[in-house]
Amino acid sequence: MEALVKVRQIRESDWNAVLKFYNSLPSEDLYLRFFHIYRMSAEDAVKLAKCEDHYTVVAEAGGEIVGEATIHPDGEFSVVVSPSYRRAHLGTNLVKQLIIKAKELGLKEVKFYTLPEDYPMIALGRKLGFQLSFDGEEVVGVLRL
Ligand SMILES: CC(C)(COP(=O)(O)OP(=O)(O)OC[C@H]1O[C@@H](n2cnc3c(N)ncnc32)[C@H](O)[C@@H]1OP(=O)(O)O)[C@@H](O)C(=O)NCCC(=O)NCCS
Repeated sequence: MEALVKVRQIRESDWNAVLKFYNSLPSEDLYLRFFHIYRMSAEDAVKLAKCEDHYTVVAEAGGEIVGEATIHPDGEFSVVVSPSYRRAHLGTNLVKQLIIKAKELGLKEVKFYTLPEDYPMIALGRKLGFQLSFDGEEVVGVLRL
């Protein structure tokens, strides 16, 4: 059985664990999370953990980061969960935390972009009530708050 998972706001001291998490992910997942070929640097991890221009939540299990979700001031967010922790509603819980924060901040909508073949994210968005538009190249999910 996997360790107990806790969803919480990221802390500055998480940068190293976040870097380790990102380095453990397959490149397809990194592509879906960042929308381009990406390898996280220590500098990027420090920036992510500082949360100066975004809000980030993480899922922690057994002292390790196993999921992360970040929302920007325009309401756009992205999420990724470790392959070994999927299908346990962790992605849903991370996105729900972002929606709570977006409401606190007074945002009018939250949205995500993904590829048409990203069935798990599309299903997650649909379950949370996002309106989905498919335009061939990408899928946009929008939830009015
Ligand atoms: C998208 C992602 C975050 C989903 O994480 P997750 O923790 O597995 O998602 P959840 O368990 O909350 O799933 C939510 C719903 O999506 C559906 N779903 C998720 N994965 C699925 C799969 N592989 N097959 C079928 N349905 C799936 C289910 O309907 C599920 O609800 P249910 O189990 O109650 O029926 C994860 O697959 C991931 O990290 N993918 C790579 C990165 C990515 O695509 N990010 C999105 C960029 S915006």
